Formats: sequence, C-alpha cells, structure tokens
Amino acid sequence: MNYQVKSYEEYKEAYAISVADPEQFWGKVADEFSWHRKWDKVLEWNFTTPDVKWFVNGKLNITENCLDRHLQAQGNKPAIIWEPNGTEEAHRVITYAELHKYVCRFAAVLRKNGVQKGDRVCIYMGMIPELAVAMLACARIGAIHSVIFGGFSAQSISDRLHDAGAEFVITCDGAFRGGKDIPLKNTIDDALINSPAVKKVIVFLRTHTAVSVIKGRDVWWHDEMAAVDEETTMPAEEMDAEDPLFILYTSGSTGKPKGVVHATAGYMIYATYTFVNVFQLQASDVHFCTADIGWITGHTYIVYGVLCAGGTSLMYEGIPTFPDAGRLWDIVDKHKATILYTAPTAIRSLMAHGLAPLSGKDLSSLRVLGTVGEPINEEAWHWYDVHIGKSRCPIVDTWWQTETGGVLMSNIAGVTPSKPGYATLPMPGIQPVLVDDQGNTINGNDVSGNLCISFPWPSIIRTTFGDHERCRVNYFATYPGMYFTGDGCYRDVDGMYRITGRVDDVLNVSGHRIGTAEVENAINMHTGVLESAVVGYPHDLKGQGIYAYVIMESMPDDATHTKADILQTVTRVIGAIARPDKIQFVPGLPKTRSGKIMRRILRKIAEGETENLGDTSTLLDPGVVDVIKNERV
Ligand code: WT7
Repeated sequence: MNYQVKSYEEYKEAYAISVADPEQFWGKVADEFSWHRKWDKVLEWNFTTPDVKWFVNGKLNITENCLDRHLQAQGNKPAIIWEPNGTEEAHRVITYAELHKYVCRFAAVLRKNGVQKGDRVCIYMGMIPELAVAMLACARIGAIHSVIFGGFSAQSISDRLHDAGAEFVITCDGAFRGGKDIPLKNTIDDALINSPAVKKVIVFLRTHTAVSVIKGRDVWWHDEMAAVDEETTMPAEEMDAEDPLFILYTSGSTGKPKGVVHATAGYMIYATYTFVNVFQLQASDVHFCTADIGWITGHTYIVYGVLCAGGTSLMYEGIPTFPDAGRLWDIVDKHKATILYTAPTAIRSLMAHGLAPLSGKDLSSLRVLGTVGEPINEEAWHWYDVHIGKSRCPIVDTWWQTETGGVLMSNIAGVTPSKPGYATLPMPGIQPVLVDDQGNTINGNDVSGNLCISFPWPSIIRTTFGDHERCRVNYFATYPGMYFTGDGCYRDVDGMYRITGRVDDVLNVSGHRIGTAEVENAINMHTGVLESAVVGYPHDLKGQGIYAYVIMESMPDDATHTKADILQTVTRVIGAIARPDKIQFVPGLPKTRSGKIMRRILRKIAEGETENLGDTSTLLDPGVVDVIKNERV
C-alpha cells in the first residue's frame, strides 16, 4: 500500500499534496483498487446544492475489493475472527476464501428471494459473522443495506423501514448479549405490523428461541443456503462509483433520524485509506474494534475498511463486562489482538472495576490503541495508556461522524504526535475551518469555534435518503460553502485540534448519538404529559446523561411510578439507549416571549449550576427558573 505514510515528514507531504492537488492525490490512492472501469474525472463538486461526485463514471464492486482481490495472495488468511458472547462456545475463524464463498452463496439467496440492484435491505442482527456476510452479499448484488442497531425498538425500526422503503429484512431469531437473549425476530414482527411493503424476512438461527414464522414472508437462512449450490460464484454487480452503498440512520437536532447515504467508491477508498494510515496497518495485524456494526464505526472499521485493506477483523458478539470485567483482555490475549479500538465510555466503565480484572492478563500482543465516539477525559486516556498499552502503544483519538464515513481527524499511530484529549491533526484531504456564529472564519491558533470542513473528501455524506433538502439544510446551509459538523472545537497554540462536543441539540450518551427532539417526542407521547424539554449533562460513565424536564397535566400522585412509566414509553418508542437518567416534573419551562425554550438555562441547571444562569430577563415567566432550580433532581 503505497499510500501508507510512515513518518511525520511523509504525513506533512501527503497533506500538502492533498490540499494543493486533491484530484491527483486521491486519483493515486484510487489507482491501487480494483475497477471495472476507471473514472473520467476524480472530483466534481459544489457545496451549495450540494452535489459531490468522486471518481466520475468509474465502475466497480466493493466486494471484489474486499474479497476477490485478496484470494490469490492471501485466501487462507483470516478475514474475520469471531468471539462469541459465551465463553464455552467455540470461536470461529473465517478466511478470505471462505468469506468470499459465503458471501457469494448468500448473495445468490438474496437474488433468489427477489432482491434487485438498488433495492433497500434492512439488516437487524446481533454481532455475528453473518451480519457482515449479509452486508457484503447486498453489496455484491448492488442492493443498498441499512443496518439497524439491535438496541432500537420496533417503532424505531418501523420508522427506518418506511423511510428507506425497504422490502427485505435480514434478522436473527435472537441475539446473545451478556446474560441476555435479545428477541430480535419478535421485535421485527412488531415493526412489520404496519409494513405490508416488506416481502421477505430472512431469519438466521442463533439463539434457538421460539419465534413466529409467517407463511410466504419469513424464510430460514439455513434452508435458503442449502438450496443454493455451495460453489456459487456470484458475479459482482457492476456499480457506478456514485451508486449508494448503504444507508445508515443517525440522529439530528430536529425530527426523526435521517438516513445518511454513502456512495460506493468514495466510501471504499476513504475507509481503507484511513484504516491503513491511522492504525498503521501491518500484514500480521489482528484488529479488534469493539463497536457494534449497527453504528458507522462498525461499518467502516470492522467490515469495509478492514477487509478492503486485507486485514483481519476480530469481531466480538458480547459486552465488555461479561462474564466479568476482564473479558476484553481475555479476548485480546486469546486472539493476540494487535490493535484495540474502543470508546471512552467503555474505558471508563472498565476503569471503574479497578485493576483486579487485569491481573494475569498479558496484553503484550497490543501495538496500537484507539478511541472513538466522544471526547476522552485525560484520566481515562492515561489509564488506557498505562494499564492497557503499558505506556508503549500509541493511542489514536479518532474524531469523525456517521456523515463523514471515516476518520477526519486523528493522530497517526506512532507517526504524528498524540496529545491526550486531542484529535490532533486532520487526515490528508481534510481541510478544517473554525467559524464564529456569524460564519466568519477564525484564523490563528489558541482559538475556538464551530468546526466546518471546507473541501469534500471521498466519503462525505451524499444525501439524506429521500430528502436531499434535509441534507442541504442540515449540513451545508448554516455556513454557506462549508460542511458543518455540529461540533465545537478548539485549536491550540500548536495548531492541534480538540473536539469540545456538540454545539447543537444532539446528545452523545455512552457514544450513542441521540437527538433531544426525539426523546422529547417520545416523552410527549406518554399519557398526561403536556410538554417536555431534554438536555444533556456531564455523566461520569456515559459522558453525557439525559435530563428531562416534564410538564404534566396535573402533578401525579405517585411521581416515582409515573417516571418509571415514562421511561417505559421511551424504551418502547426509541429503545433503552434513549431512557432519561433523570426526570424532573416542572410547572413550566423557561421560554422567551416568542415561545422558544431557553435550553441554555436548562442545561446549566442540569449541570448543577444554579448561580450564573445568565440573562433571564427576556423570559416570559422568569419565576419558573427558581422553581426548577429549587426542585432539581
Ligand atoms: C459525533 C458523531 C465516529 C463514529 C462514532 C460516532 C462525537 C466522535 C469523537 C472524538 C470527540 C467525538 C462528535 C461527533 N465524536 N468521535 N474522537 N472526540 N468527539 O459517530 O454517532 O455519528 O457521532 O460523535 O460529537 O459529531 P456518530
């Protein structure tokens, strides 16, 4: 891989070329991939409509890049090593040759069940290799997958299914997660009550839980596979560079989650480029990313980026604390993981168990550590460094988003300097800009502002599915001519970047992205609720907790019970990940005369700040603030 930068000098050189001549830069990277037909032009773009096209008229299939092209040189290399939830069950090793066969065969199953190029396929499965197989099989035949995280409710699935116009679902009877069996098929059945458009549901047998099987609609994965020739070499569908590869739903500051659309070639190239560079991939690496494939981290750094680079992806079905808080370390030792990529929230929760779970663990296979998903506090950074990396593994702090497809800012392991709490420097091709609220560029160092990116990179969001205007308004209209990330950012005296958190109404709870409006809508569905306002507050383990201020029609007699019921409603409507940590019943909300809720005040109160609430004189009813702060929970 000629595009791996191996020194700080090489990074600076690559960065300079990527800015001076982006087309030359990315064209050279793209030359190292397999194409049916190369592009006419590397890039066409404008950030007004917006309209971004990379590798114009190029033709390819991403699965040929992830699978076929590795067969000759490394067909017997493990592509996926899978560690099950339970410690008694055997792990699985799937080589590139085996994965290729498996994907081809399941792609044939999809075809046989009527899936066509461009069709949307919703995938709702646990963390098993078949989830990766399902995604790759979709990509093999040009179907657009939309993976839904296993923690979302039937209602959330139904919303996404409808929005995507999905006619096919791939699921499991259930999923093992820690001590729990998650009834995935039951949830899908609930989601499908109002979805007559769904023609087929393919069910993989994992937990052997009793499930209902609807005649004509539901089929078993193993039956369908048995009906397809084992040696099927499903030819890969020729895709345009800009054909959508997948949709992944994510929360914004308003409305329902939006379907972020990624395009085939640009996503593939940027995912692979960043994987190879940030972690400084070596041929013998075993890459252990603990994210769920239901989020972008898993898409890019468990599946596509890793396989496309010919790496070995270690995939774990369960949770870090099952059966005990030493499990991740056991997995690292068992499979000799060389890279560990996880979230600050996981590090903090393991830290809370003390050092006992680390006793007897070797961890000497580790070479690089990574974090993703939220700002990492220095204490967690040092714990990770000292106790896991034994002060000899670089830690990469990777900042990016569902919309960016791959890492935009991070130090490069052992190559560029690291700094605790800092994503440090932009990847080659990324042009960050800090702007003030009026959109003026903030130059110089030791400054803070709203983080924008002024030039496209290959895996930038192309649209929000079915609603391009929403994409424009959300990302390209706030600061015209720039992609707005929604994050606040500080650039230090040395020009290093530190992400300070969202500046919009998006929460980051245990690395899960949740919109305050979504939680409010769910709370408002509860009987007796008149209105609610949700804000985030600092939480030791989760990073952010959810604080809900709720106005009831009348004060409930049993407040504890009503709060529990409200939590149940939120679980039903969104999923357990969106349950507020705190609910406070309030007589009113601080609103301006025009009716806008002053969230700034609510945030301060939730944070425990009761003195400096700022100017409250423009409030319709300033008195309500005193009541709220006196009754803070
Ligand atoms: C938001 C995106 C990228 C995959 C997982 C999250 C926050 C992400 C970092 C980091 C500080 C981070 C940002 C961003 N975030 N990585 N290294 N340091 N903050 O993807 O669900 O789309 O959330 O997560 O606020 O905007 P996502």
